[in-house]
Amino acid sequence: MQRRMGFLGVFLLSLAAAVSGLPGHHASLKRQVSQLRPTYDFIIIGGGTSGLTVADRLSEAFPKKTVLVIEYGDVEYAYGSFDPPQLWLGPPPAQASAWTFFSQPNPDVNNKTAFVKVGQLVGGSSAVNGQFFDRGSRFDYDAWTEAGGHEFRSSDIKWDWHGLLPYFKKSVTFTKPSAELVQKYGYTWDIPAAYGGSTPIHSSFSPFQWADWVIQRDTWRDLGLPIPKECAGGDKQGICWVPTSQHPVTARRSHAGLGHYADVRRPNYDLLVKHQVIRVVYPKGSGKSSSPPLVEVRSLSNPAQPVFNVTAKAEVIISAGAFHTPTILQRSGIGPAASLAAAGIPTLIDLPGVGANLQDHSGPGVIWNCNPIIQLTTITDTKPRTFSPVPADLLNATYLAEATAQFNEVPARGPYTLALGNTAIYVSLPRAAPASFQTIVSKILELANGPLSNVAPFFPPNTDATILQGYKSQLSALATLLSNPQAPSLETPWATGSDPTAWSFLLHPLSRGFVRLNPTDPLSQPLLDYRMLSNPLDMDIHLAHLKFLRTLVSTPTMKKYGAVEVSPGAAVQTDAQLAEYVRAQMILSFQHPCCTAAMMPRSKGGVVGPDLKVHGVKGIRVADMSVMPLLPGSHLSATAYAVGEKAADIIIDEWKKSWH
Ligand SMILES: Cc1cc2nc3c(=O)[nH]c(=O)nc-3n(C[C@H](O)[C@H](O)[C@H](O)COP(=O)(O)OP(=O)(O)OC[C@H]3O[C@@H](n4cnc5c(N)ncnc54)[C@H](O)[C@@H]3O)c2cc1C
Ligand SMILES: *[C@@H]1O[C@H](CO)[C@@H](O)[C@H](O)[C@H]1NC(C)=O
Ligand SMILES: *[C@@H]1O[C@H](CO)[C@@H](O)[C@H](O)[C@H]1NC(C)=O
Ligand SMILES: *[C@@H]1O[C@H](CO)[C@@H](O)[C@H](O)[C@H]1NC(C)=O
Repeated sequence: MQRRMGFLGVFLLSLAAAVSGLPGHHASLKRQVSQLRPTYDFIIIGGGTSGLTVADRLSEAFPKKTVLVIEYGDVEYAYGSFDPPQLWLGPPPAQASAWTFFSQPNPDVNNKTAFVKVGQLVGGSSAVNGQFFDRGSRFDYDAWTEAGGHEFRSSDIKWDWHGLLPYFKKSVTFTKPSAELVQKYGYTWDIPAAYGGSTPIHSSFSPFQWADWVIQRDTWRDLGLPIPKECAGGDKQGICWVPTSQHPVTARRSHAGLGHYADVRRPNYDLLVKHQVIRVVYPKGSGKSSSPPLVEVRSLSNPAQPVFNVTAKAEVIISAGAFHTPTILQRSGIGPAASLAAAGIPTLIDLPGVGANLQDHSGPGVIWNCNPIIQLTTITDTKPRTFSPVPADLLNATYLAEATAQFNEVPARGPYTLALGNTAIYVSLPRAAPASFQTIVSKILELANGPLSNVAPFFPPNTDATILQGYKSQLSALATLLSNPQAPSLETPWATGSDPTAWSFLLHPLSRGFVRLNPTDPLSQPLLDYRMLSNPLDMDIHLAHLKFLRTLVSTPTMKKYGAVEVSPGAAVQTDAQLAEYVRAQMILSFQHPCCTAAMMPRSKGGVVGPDLKVHGVKGIRVADMSVMPLLPGSHLSATAYAVGEKAADIIIDEWKKSWH
């Protein structure tokens, strides 16, 4: 299957070695403790997608206050993990730095491990991601508030769709495509519904499509899927155009390291690179309920440099991403007492939710062979060409050289401007499985309304009751979501009609994993336990999605091109056979880990409140993809920016009151 995985699959499996690019010059860039000011007002841990958004806004709102971002990686400009298609067709260009994680073996998925990357540079994962720039549906965010329960519904701070939409709008500059492109491809959008911001984080449409791009669009249309005009405005059931996070003219990646750092020059905004935050620590005698903690840091470029503390006068904001935020909290003694004890860390506050509630998108693919279309692996194909160009043309050195030259033109053009592709379908469970969705939903509701002992088997032994309680609230919100005919449950993204794989992203997983300190070396990378399919109802949903995707092959468009299903293949028919296929073929991570410091009440296993303050301690907030209680049905970067924008507003509002 690997050989024939097509675009997305090849990208996912061919992430090569990291080589850094050119560091940019910026007055506020610090490399040594000796270059820092004695204290800062705000310290942000992690210069990634959400963290730099917060830093930019705080330094703008409070010109007399100082902001320090502490980042593990360096300032780099290099190709991200998914940057242009030449990656897998020749020697890889310099790739930006990233961590590579392999999860613990996943018992319910044949002991497979999840393979996950995380950006390790200024800009974080936005600087290495696939640039697919979509948002969840309105119902995904409404479910956050619902999962939080009455304690959160009565909060002044609202994280539902209406509470987030202004920040989604503010967080990007959308540039509409030219009239020529609109005519050529039929791009649609709706600025009042979705955009209107002017931040230097760009969202735009590629000037390029592979010649066979219409095949999949026509196929989905054959299935009767709706075609929304705009999919970033809250409603996105159907066939969607998805913009790319890139500059509208140069087609270069737009990311937080550029838009919220390099493009910003402000004397009160410092960035310390190549330093690891070890933990936050309250000075002796001050205690967890008086002032903000100190931030304990070590140099990565100069290991001889002793560990040092940096002082935040106002507060500390942790934005180290879904794996590292809970790691830093746990190293600080904020987390599940038992795993802290196992790692030899004294407990400051027993908060079982830190590192729990890990979610990600996962799923298998359906593969077909579409006769006249040249596959990636068959460049020697001598059949007459129905479509030209197709991705296999990048194996042709002349075409490859032309494509490179086109990408470097201003304005840029050619295949490299398409990144991963800019189309996806999003389908609700009632739409994908009209006959079976009610059974699935009622099983979820039964768990949501039943005793804790019914959900406990999905979690490791001795999981805290507050986590199980919160999980039941989440299930109840998910039952509402999955029974909504307008709320997508399945996503299939693609770049070209000749991509032989239709990936099946399960958008709203029911299974929960966790992140915890490596007990033998707490300073090293954390251990990930994905626990995919630990709730067996996820398998029911996978089967519903797969059966829907298999109907593709019988559409008039696919028939016209002689499509034949290769995988699962005709021999796989019963549910048991299909389930075996899912376990054998599924990818455990589509690179969207989240939710490990969830915004839920403490009584429901939560870590932060709607104000993003960590429960039970003073002076620490979290702002990144860990705070989401539930994974939205989208790729995450647009939500990471919106969460950063909203977090900044909450913080600014609060400090304005005390400082004026
Ligand atoms: C390979 C890949 C492909 C993806 N594809 C897409 C896509 O196509 N579209 C999309 O929308 N989303 C995509 N995503 C997901 C999206 O980019 C991320 O979910 C999002 O950017 C995460 O934002 P964040 O702020 O939570 O964390 P990040 O942006 O990851 O930032 C965390 C930062 O903290 C730093 N850090 C960590 N630990 C420490 C420490 N101890 N001390 C100091 N600094 C620390 C890290 O170096 C990093 O810079 C992809 C992600 C990856 C990795
Ligand atoms: C997974 O690994 C465990 C522990 O090694 C083993 O007991 C189990 O049989 C394995 N399961 C599968 C499906 O291979
Ligand atoms: C940082 O501060 C904590 C708390 O006061 C203290 O225990 C620790 O020794 C300090 N570390 C350094 C390197 O000064
Ligand atoms: C290779 O690409 C060039 C430029 O697009 C084209 O003219 C040529 O016919 C291609 N060769 C093959 C074998 O397809």
